[in-house]
Amino acid sequence: MMNITSYTSDALLIEGGTRLSGRVRVSGAKNASLPIIFATILTSDPCTVEDVPQLLDVKNACDLLLMLGAEAHRKGDSVLIDPSGISSHEAPPEIVRKMRASILSLGPLLARFGTARVALPGGCSIGARPIDQHLKFFAKAGADVSLKDGFIQVELKNKKPLEFSFELITVTGTENALLYLSSVEGRSILRNIALEPEVMDLVEVLRKMGAEIEIEGRTAVVRGSDYLKGFHHRVIPDRIEAGTLMVASLLTDGEVYLENTVPEHLGSVIDTLRSMGASIERRDNALLVRGKATRPVDVYTSEFPGFPTDMQAQVMVLLSLAEGKSRVYESIFENRFQHVYELRKMGAKIEVRGRTALVEGVEELRGAEVFSTDLRASASLVLAGLVAKGTTVVRDLYHLDRGYERLEEKLKELGACVERLPSLVS
Ligand code: EPU
Repeated sequence: MMNITSYTSDALLIEGGTRLSGRVRVSGAKNASLPIIFATILTSDPCTVEDVPQLLDVKNACDLLLMLGAEAHRKGDSVLIDPSGISSHEAPPEIVRKMRASILSLGPLLARFGTARVALPGGCSIGARPIDQHLKFFAKAGADVSLKDGFIQVELKNKKPLEFSFELITVTGTENALLYLSSVEGRSILRNIALEPEVMDLVEVLRKMGAEIEIEGRTAVVRGSDYLKGFHHRVIPDRIEAGTLMVASLLTDGEVYLENTVPEHLGSVIDTLRSMGASIERRDNALLVRGKATRPVDVYTSEFPGFPTDMQAQVMVLLSLAEGKSRVYESIFENRFQHVYELRKMGAKIEVRGRTALVEGVEELRGAEVFSTDLRASASLVLAGLVAKGTTVVRDLYHLDRGYERLEEKLKELGACVERLPSLVS
């Protein structure tokens, strides 16, 4: 008998087996909002960021701005930031521990003060997540980079343009470099950059602030300015939330109309789901997802425009119920299969061999008590609960709350039977 009382973190109770149907609006993208919020450090003018999701990670980013001396407050779905009072160049460990993306403050703080101190982020549950590429970039920019007392300390004598090639493709590494270079007068070149839609959204913002940025293939040419102005920007829709909701619909043989999407950002996800048999129709900026997707396929995660690692766990749930065997290769993070062990508790047949997961479709999943280990893993467990026979309790929900805005309410509006069990400690 499952103990469904709550522990120290909220849990989600899911009664599986309901067909999802209806309309749902996808929120603004978390991973676009964060670098854009940090871009405000580059200016002293007021900035408005629209369609920012209400998430723990966004709150942490705003809290960091407040600690630095900015004013930031929410008005509806917008965040209004007045960065004129920023007077500190230090991101302390208590905030970096809560959110690895705080590393994105390094580039803008260095641009603003010529010196920056950001606590070392350390590894996390999906892998070691080194930041050597960020640091190599700042060293190439002529900065003294040192690691001392748990901080990354970067000091710069003077700003000058530079050429830098990333040894591997990194999303936040590219963002940090673009943030910094936007403040450097002259022509800089960055090679082997990440092209994720969230990076491109930041480029849009930096252009609005006055930087000239041209992108050709994986090369960016940046002509920065020592005066960057304030901006007004609406962030792109969250392609991972859209993909997660698409999988939710397909798992339950549903009919879901997803509003506020950019289908071009979802190309590889849509192709994969269609090759599994999904019906996905585009209606301007909306997507209509109907029926099931049960054909096995092989999935290989890679940088955009490849299949996103942030959708790997969710699509694995669909493959767990497919009619045959599939293979999932995770090329981005070395330890992103922790959901497998939880999905197995629900009856999934998945074997992990290094970076490959071998998935053998089963007839049904069964409800179980499962534990979230990271953001996307927790989403996959919620998805599994929607289709499983009986009751599922997904514990340690704070992982989900970091990255999905109102997911359980959206699922409820589509007809799912889900209920949050608040933690016993507040
Ligand atoms: N890497 C290095 N050295 C570096 C930087 C990265 O070896 O200096 C390695 C990483 O360890 C990883 C690979 O390069 O193996 C790619 O990492 P990347 O730097 O691109 O990841 P990130 O910028 O830390 C962002 C997203 C992640 C998303 C990845 C990949 C944000 C705030 N985070 O992380 O989002 O999985 O890109 O697309 O944008 C999530 O939302 O759940 C999430 C984890």
